[in-house]
Amino acid sequence: MIVVDLLSLVLIGVAASAMPCGEIQPLVFPITDVQIIPSISNSLTKGIPASIGTPGQTIVFLPWPELNNTWIYDEQPYCDPSIIFSDTICRVRRGNLYSDVSSSSYHKAEDIPSAGGAPVETQGKYAETGISKLLDSSVPVQDTLDIGSVQVSESFPFGVPRLSWDHGYTISHPMGLGSNSTLLNTLVKAGRIGSRVWSIFWGRMWVDADDAMDGSLVLGGYDSQKVIGKNYTQRLDYSDTTGCWTGMRVNVASVKLNIRDGDDVELLSPSDAFDACIVPQRQLLLEAPPAIVKGFENTSGVSSLGPSYGIHWGGYLYDSTNLFDGDMTISLSSGLEVRIPNNQYLVPYVDVDRNGSRIFNNSQHELLVAISYAKYDAPRTLGRYFFTGAYLMVNHDAGTFTIINYLYGHYNNL
Ligand SMILES: *[C@@H]1O[C@H](CO)[C@@H](O)[C@H](O)[C@H]1NC(C)=O
Ligand SMILES: *[C@@H]1O[C@H](CO)[C@@H](O)[C@H](O)[C@H]1NC(C)=O
Ligand SMILES: *[C@@H]1O[C@H](CO)[C@@H](O)[C@H](O)[C@H]1NC(C)=O
Ligand SMILES: *[C@@H]1O[C@H](CO)[C@@H](O)[C@H](O)[C@H]1NC(C)=O
Ligand SMILES: *[C@@H]1O[C@H](CO)[C@@H](O)[C@H](O)[C@H]1NC(C)=O
Ligand SMILES: *[C@@H]1O[C@H](CO)[C@@H](O)[C@H](O)[C@H]1NC(C)=O
Repeated sequence: MIVVDLLSLVLIGVAASAMPCGEIQPLVFPITDVQIIPSISNSLTKGIPASIGTPGQTIVFLPWPELNNTWIYDEQPYCDPSIIFSDTICRVRRGNLYSDVSSSSYHKAEDIPSAGGAPVETQGKYAETGISKLLDSSVPVQDTLDIGSVQVSESFPFGVPRLSWDHGYTISHPMGLGSNSTLLNTLVKAGRIGSRVWSIFWGRMWVDADDAMDGSLVLGGYDSQKVIGKNYTQRLDYSDTTGCWTGMRVNVASVKLNIRDGDDVELLSPSDAFDACIVPQRQLLLEAPPAIVKGFENTSGVSSLGPSYGIHWGGYLYDSTNLFDGDMTISLSSGLEVRIPNNQYLVPYVDVDRNGSRIFNNSQHELLVAISYAKYDAPRTLGRYFFTGAYLMVNHDAGTFTIINYLYGHYNNL
């Protein structure tokens, strides 16, 4: 049964190919820890390692569905000083900083479109507020870009931000994968990928090396070995009224805590069901109505030490003793049920120290859920940790996005 499902998915993946030869393999990039400061071994940032300029400078990307262009920070990185209070922390969390003067292939262009970049970025409600100003305010650049071992272009167009445009806690260099993605278009044009498709699995982290797993970004297809069961496909819809600024709106019908003895506790009453946007780079599992954090505390008999100001900004801190040890299952009204492992939504407190090192406080854990209050008209989101249990594929050629369950135990069964 499973084999048949997977085969039909593979065929769809290949059928999406825009190239005459259906044999072009998708490109696979790890989402992994990258060391940022050569002298500090645990100055780590999680993302996709890439190389910009000549000689290559290491930077770290995160995939952004709501940007068409790719934006790379230089030595004016605009971290929010109220949370990121040193240049070293900012450099690590941004995923290193580009130095144009150190690159012999740096070329400054007239503007982003004449550099070959996309001429339009979203005006969508709830998108980071500065996105609409990025095109006009940024430095338009062309330079050599390699992602992993893949040379994307010797004159890849991107912008260097000259304003503080984002909230500052998602943070690493944004790789634009929107509907007119410069990166996807460049790779298709060069014949490196066959379709404007991208997919993501976030991996498993903050656990022992035995249980940890890198995530992956696939360009030009998806990894059929990472998925299982029925796929749920919807149209990408970027409208403010029926869609989301990322194109991906879903309805969360149920959030259950899975108690170890086998019982489930429902945290949402039927009237609590809520629409959420899928924003795979966001730093948490959920930004959601208060019922989830309240229900978590009630069920597990704990109360919070306060909000987190670390890497998981906006989550809630709890004392690690006697913490709830069950999973969480998020069900969408489409029928998809995604089970998030306990250690992927309740993680040890983690931050970047002043000296650039990643530090933990194992006496505290963070619930990776932020409260989003309707009265402040705050958006609800499913962030990166949703993709510790689910797999996302965005297909710009078909105008659709697909969510499938991540194949649990796949690696354990090898
Ligand atoms: C999902 O699966 C169905 C068959 O169950 C198939 O018709 C559809 O094309 C698949 N969609 C994607 C995006 O893989
Ligand atoms: C990308 O470019 C297209 C075409 O100009 C535009 O319609 C869209 O709003 C832009 N942003 C995203 C996220 O697709
Ligand atoms: C998409 O971007 C390309 C540049 O990469 C540009 O030439 C084209 O006009 C854009 N398409 C739309 C619809 O904005
Ligand atoms: C709190 O949890 C108990 C079970 O532990 C349940 O009976 C009660 O309805 C819950 N209250 C709220 C407000 O969720
Ligand atoms: C950085 O600071 C942390 C915590 O203050 C400390 O444990 C670590 O040894 C320091 N690392 C270096 C390389 O100085
Ligand atoms: C770590 O967490 C414990 C328990 O909340 C707290 O008492 C302690 O001060 C924290 N340590 C640091 C270095 O912040």
